[in-house]
Amino acid sequence: MKAKLSHQEIKKESIKEKLHPISKLIRERKTTYASSYSDKRIPFEVLEEIITNALWAPTHKMTQPWRFELLTGTHHEDLGKYMLDFYKKSLSKDQFPESRYQTTLEYPKNATMLVIVFRRSERIEIPEWEEIAAISCAVQNMWLTCTALDIGCYWDTAIATIQYCDTILDLKPNEKCLGIFYMGYISDTLEKGNRKRKSLSKKMIENHKK
Ligand SMILES: Cc1cc2nc3c(=O)[nH]c(=O)nc-3n(C[C@H](O)[C@H](O)[C@H](O)COP(=O)(O)O)c2cc1C
Repeated sequence: MKAKLSHQEIKKESIKEKLHPISKLIRERKTTYASSYSDKRIPFEVLEEIITNALWAPTHKMTQPWRFELLTGTHHEDLGKYMLDFYKKSLSKDQFPESRYQTTLEYPKNATMLVIVFRRSERIEIPEWEEIAAISCAVQNMWLTCTALDIGCYWDTAIATIQYCDTILDLKPNEKCLGIFYMGYISDTLEKGNRKRKSLSKKMIENHKK
């Protein structure tokens, strides 16, 4: 049986229904951690579509300053071991109790892991921030595509993650790892979180010049 909605909730629901599909997609995009992924694998053609959408992001002077590496095979176990070792060494027993060891070890188990590599253009001089802004657009394209395809995902830039990638990638002097984009089909047990944003009035003003 459907629970009754309050007046406030009905108002919110009807606003949602009126949203343009692109606004709906943007507002439904969210972070889903790898611990919530099921063991259902993402088909390779689907991954290709997600990553192709990253390539369609805008870049200043068309530098396209990225490349991606898909981590497969024993990376799932090795990254878990690396994270466990890293947090044991860098955190106190209180911050990282033994009860978290197994979940940390198994964290990447069900995830599809795409390393994001920033490849700085050697041909065209563009400020670094513009290149990183362009990569962020590429990541957002993947994030939105995953949302549309009911695939959970998020961008992980933790030190342990980046250090692991640095040990396994053959990075050139003009390249830098910017983390892992985690993806996976969401297990049925995931509960809906309460996501919020500051209001438009707090973030936008009109600057009118006469
Ligand atoms: C550049 C960038 C780096 C991020 N790195 C991490 C991270 O290392 N660990 C993490 O838990 N979340 C990370 N996130 C996800 C954010 O925590 C998340 O987007 C934010 O809490 C808002 O939640 P939402 O994505 O559900 O709207 C990152 C997001 C961005 C844009």
